[in-house]
Order: sequence, then C-alpha cells, then structure tokens
Amino acid sequence: MEILIKNIKQLVQVEVEPKLKVSGRDMKQLPCIDDAWLAIEDDTIAGFGKMQDWEGISDWSNLTVIDATDKIVMPSYCDSHTHLVYAGTRETEFADRINGLTYEEIFARGGGILNSAKKLAEASEEELMQSAMVRLEEIIMQGTGAVEIKSGYGLSTDSELKMLRVIKKLKSISPLTIKSTFLGAHAVPANYKGNKRGYIDLLTNEMMPIIATEGLADYCDVFCEQNYFTKEETIEILNAGKWYGMIPKVHAEQLSNFGGTLAGVETGAISVDHLEYVGEKEIEALQNSDTISTILPGAAFFLNLPFPPARKMIDAGLPVALASDFNPGSCPSGNMNLMMSIGCIQYKMTPEEVINAATINGAYAMDLSKTHGSIAVGKQANVFITNKISGYSFIPYAFGSNPAETIILNGKLINRK
Ligand code: NIG
Ligand code: FE
Repeated sequence: MEILIKNIKQLVQVEVEPKLKVSGRDMKQLPCIDDAWLAIEDDTIAGFGKMQDWEGISDWSNLTVIDATDKIVMPSYCDSHTHLVYAGTRETEFADRINGLTYEEIFARGGGILNSAKKLAEASEEELMQSAMVRLEEIIMQGTGAVEIKSGYGLSTDSELKMLRVIKKLKSISPLTIKSTFLGAHAVPANYKGNKRGYIDLLTNEMMPIIATEGLADYCDVFCEQNYFTKEETIEILNAGKWYGMIPKVHAEQLSNFGGTLAGVETGAISVDHLEYVGEKEIEALQNSDTISTILPGAAFFLNLPFPPARKMIDAGLPVALASDFNPGSCPSGNMNLMMSIGCIQYKMTPEEVINAATINGAYAMDLSKTHGSIAVGKQANVFITNKISGYSFIPYAFGSNPAETIILNGKLINRK
C-alpha cells in the first residue's frame, strides 16, 4: 500500500459492482461513502470503506497518509471530446461574433476551422507539443484524468499526421490517459474548395492507410453539418475509418438537424457529440443502440447555441456524457467543473447527473469505463481531493471556481502550486 487517504468527508462515485455506463433515471444515483478511507497501491485503487471499519495495516513503511478532513474525494473527470492540440487563438473572431457575425459567416469568409488550419500548418511539432502540454497541465489541475484529443486543424496529409504524431507523443509522456481521434473530415480545406470528392478520397485513400500503419488514431470523427459533410459522406468516411481500425464518433446536430446522429448509430459509433438540434427520431434511434450521447455545454454557451434537450434524452432512458470540447473556436476552456455548472444551470441536469456524465459516462465514450470513471477496487488510481467543501453539489454550484486541491494520477501525487 502506498497512499492512504483518511477522514474523507465524502468519497464520491464508489462502485462495488462496476458498470460500463449509467443511463436514464439511474443517472440521478451517485453512490457515496461519508467519513471514508481510500487506499491506493501502485497505480491502482486497492480498497475503500468507512473510517469506523478501517482495520489499520501492519506495515506503515512506504505509506503516504493524507488527512482529508472536511474535503471530498472525486474520481478524475473523463473528458471525451477535445481539440486541444492547436496553434494560435481566435479572439478576433470572438470579437467579430460579439459585433454580429455568426460562426457560419466567419467560416464562409475563410475563418473558423480554416483559420486554425492556416496557423497549424505554420507551427512545428515542437511548438504544438509545448502549447498542448500547457493545456494538459491546466486540465490536470482542474481535475481531469483522461482525455480524448482530435486532429482536424491539419486538413492536409502532412498537417493531419503532424497533429496525430503530437497526440501520440503526448500519450507517452503525459500522466493523463489519452485517446486520439482522426478528424480529417472537420472541414473541406481551401485548396479543395469545389472538390469535396477529391478531399474525401484524400482522407480515405492517402491519410487513413498511414494513420493505420503508424497506429495514430483510436477513433475517426466527422463534422456532419451543412457546408461541411453530409450524412452520406459521414457514413462513407466512418466506414472507411472502421476498415482501418478506427471506431466512429460524430460531431452531430450542432448547428442544424443534419443526419449526424443517424449516421453515427448506423455505423456503430461509440458516441455522437453536441446534439443541440437532436429530435424525436434521433432519440429513438439512440435508444436502440450502444452509442452514447455526449453534450458539450461549453461550446453551446460560447457560441450562444440553443440548448440540447439533455433532460429529454435522460428522461427517455439514454446515457448522457458531458465533455468540454476544449478548442480555440467554440470553447477555449477545458474546465470540467465549469462544464458541469452549465449542465446544471442551463440544461436542468442535477449535480448527480452531471457528475455521472463527466466521469463514468465520459469514460464509456472513450472505451475506458472498465478502468476509469469511478472509485472501484482494481480501477486506475485517478482521483482528486478537493479543498474544504460541503459535498459534491458544491462543485457545480460554485461555478467558475476550481475545487481540485490534490491530484492523484496513476497512483502518483500531484500537488497544486
Ligand atoms: O466541436 N463543430 C466543429 N468543431 C469544433 C469547433 C472547431 C472550431 O471552431 O475550431 C466544435 O465545436
Ligand atoms: Fe468538437
């Protein structure tokens, strides 16, 4: 045994019989133990229980004891949707939107994703690594323990591979558990304007074989939206990705009801993400699938989009995950505490529901729920200890603040400076 956390005011999201995801009404259940202990051995959760049942141990050598009186312990967040490898920022477009331009109008002028693609083409792998490491450090300190990162600001073979190689390096050096996604179909690049067919062929015939050979991506994603990729194109790209060993994900129903969710269900996507314009038809299709619905409250907040019908989806029995979408255009924040606040305040999800969505269901959306997303014996020791707070509901309530004080990833202690 190496770390013992004792006198924990509230140990959150404990599981005796671990589940892969939590759906519908069950999302209101958040099992906790008050006045608890948690033991960590190497990189694994070794045991937990009530303080009154703590039997002590015979060997106290090599043991770090942390007193968590008045503090709570949470499983680390599993942020299943980010674009956090990028070059440059887009605050000029932020000001343009304040002055009246829409996200789509900015894209039509060659801005948006195309603006980020221009900046990324000029950045070296080293520069991308450095800036991504700073962002990873920031989200670690905010309580995240596992994260998915997408390509999609490359939009050429060289730049897409550059992004994916950076993500692969991050996987090997970061204490975070990282999953990577090929999002070459994020937009049609300027040099393929009017030749979308040519670009899709480039994705499937040139990029995908190299990505598969180098083992660069776990998932393949498509931005299914007007002026980006149609439902049929989305299905074609996702099926090609599957052939190369990449599991589908979809950017679906973000700006309009455009077929992304149905494309995801049809191709067996692990998740469909955004869902602002999801309707009855999509909810019904999701009910008969293993695809999880992922909401991204930060992006909807930042772009002033209508809210996705999260309440309706949960009430229909669906599992809902919550992720940050950390990216320079629609959500320049990866703070999962804040995302949960928006989920509660604007989408009418309860604190229990947003915590389930940000932990175990986020893990499911990255195929990590056997090892991450809850406090269970044998799972990876990814947890954080908060500052002194009353209980888990305080986290989404205190919007904009960061409760994480001590972080433990893979059984190793990281103190906030
Ligand atoms: O998830 N919707 C498409 N992609 C990103 C935004 C990308 C950008 O604007 O840079 C999203 O919101
Ligand atoms: Fe996204």
